[in-house]
Amino acid sequence: MQAKWWHGKVAYQIYPKSFCDSNGDGVGDIRGIISKLDYLQDLGIEIVWLSPCFKSPFVDQGYDIADYQDIDPIFGTMEDFDELLAEAKKRGISILLDLVINHCSSEHEWFKKACADLNSEEAKYFYFRKGKDDGTPPDNLRSYFGGSVWEKIPGHEDENIYYLHYFAKAQPDLNWYYEPLREKLFNMVNFWLDKGVAGFRIDAIMNIAKDLSFPGLPADAADGMCSANQMTAKLSDQAAAFLYEMNDKTFKPHDALSVAEAFGVNQESLKNYIGDDGFFSTIFDFSARELNEKYPAYYRYRPVDIAKWRDTIFASQERVNDIGFMCPIIENHDEPRGVSYYLPRHAQNPDGAKAFAAVNILLRGMPFIYQGQEIGMTNTKFNSIYEFDDLNAKDNYKAALKAGFTPSQALDILNIESRDNARTPMLWSAGKNAGFSDAAITWLKVHQDYKTLNVAAQKDDPNSVLSFYKKLIALRKDPKYHELLTYGKFKPLEAVADYVVPFARELDGKMIYVIANFEDTAVSYGVNADSKIILSSKEVDLKDGVLTIPAVACAVVEL
Ligand code: GLC
Repeated sequence: MQAKWWHGKVAYQIYPKSFCDSNGDGVGDIRGIISKLDYLQDLGIEIVWLSPCFKSPFVDQGYDIADYQDIDPIFGTMEDFDELLAEAKKRGISILLDLVINHCSSEHEWFKKACADLNSEEAKYFYFRKGKDDGTPPDNLRSYFGGSVWEKIPGHEDENIYYLHYFAKAQPDLNWYYEPLREKLFNMVNFWLDKGVAGFRIDAIMNIAKDLSFPGLPADAADGMCSANQMTAKLSDQAAAFLYEMNDKTFKPHDALSVAEAFGVNQESLKNYIGDDGFFSTIFDFSARELNEKYPAYYRYRPVDIAKWRDTIFASQERVNDIGFMCPIIENHDEPRGVSYYLPRHAQNPDGAKAFAAVNILLRGMPFIYQGQEIGMTNTKFNSIYEFDDLNAKDNYKAALKAGFTPSQALDILNIESRDNARTPMLWSAGKNAGFSDAAITWLKVHQDYKTLNVAAQKDDPNSVLSFYKKLIALRKDPKYHELLTYGKFKPLEAVADYVVPFARELDGKMIYVIANFEDTAVSYGVNADSKIILSSKEVDLKDGVLTIPAVACAVVEL
């Protein structure tokens, strides 16, 4: 495996609207992020991914981009962004932007010009198609946010012409089959790379391939529709051709880091994605999340316990051992908090968060920490549908009511599954709005536990979740373990109980065990007589080659 500049680093995701508000408008911004760079450096972070901060009407929270080369005023200016880059660099932190190029916003001037004149150059950037003779949409694909992927052009509703949107109506899909558009997108990518960003997290990218005859697919539900992701899965080879081209023209010449959101990559193709000559540097490991992707509506979710999580994640670790790296995550801005979602009730607390942290940080691959995870944030409690912001939450609420759930049941489902669970403001202190903002009211509610669950309360406590994350990241950087924890192979250990996540990392005959115990009783593992405990979240016992880890705790042992 060729060594790369980003290997061995720990990354952190910032959701800009909710990180830190410097100007008191209730929304996070770039100057707020700059003010927290010391915090990130102190934590040991070397790569930061910013969710979109470009000009946007925020229908899908910035994943609907109206201008790819400008910063939205709600976040600040291009000068602020340049300062962020420079200040981050001073602290050894590289910045990744979010590349949302399967679609743009319906407010993008391309789409406005296209709708105004279907014979224009810009009209070629999108997919406009005639509806069927009976006036129904060209095919039966279902959008990721519910309803048809086709929508009539605003202002021309009486005509039988539709545009394609795999996500919200306000997110028209871009036509990657039109070469001049690809060139425009690649130039935009190079604009940011030339400015000094280190790379990108790449959004929803496998959706760029389309069957241009728009044949639709057999229905997968009673609505007669079929999820767009099934079409995407069929066309991954076509997407790959575009992605090789993008890599050659943008990332590769800049030695940039590209981290893709790519669901459902099969074993045969993995090498093309993340191998030495792959078109991405790495991809997120979404395998645990995918367990529920088969049941797209929230109300059809199946609880995923930590045993299932372990089996799934271990399988993907083994899939990539000899190929490349995937990025381990516990949660991101599209998921509920992992501590609430995957851990048993008795472990949904700081002890559980620490043990989960050990797994996240020490698995093979580049771990991403999502803001607030490092202090053990759990799901936010929403008391009414009006407290949610996310369009997907609102769609799912309606879908649950339609399926026969009561309003209170529908609300319970959102409290488990909604993306807003993890999008609420970062908890900095016990002060007003958790120290996130001076505003009278913040754009999304503040987590119920902020008085006790916050950075200030944890920063000087050696036993806090935050301090434990710091120790784990420091361990990865420790020259004694750095190579092993970066390149060492992953090996599963025997799961002696349901809620135990035990694995080894091994390189050149050197081996460490990482054992996270989420059971409510102690578990024991055989190690060597002279094994050494490197780190643990509670007092553990190591006698005569037997390691005993108490309930809801973890240990890292050198053999
Ligand atoms: C990705 C983003 C998500 C967004 C969607 C459409 O999945 O992570 O937040 O809604 O793409 O851009």
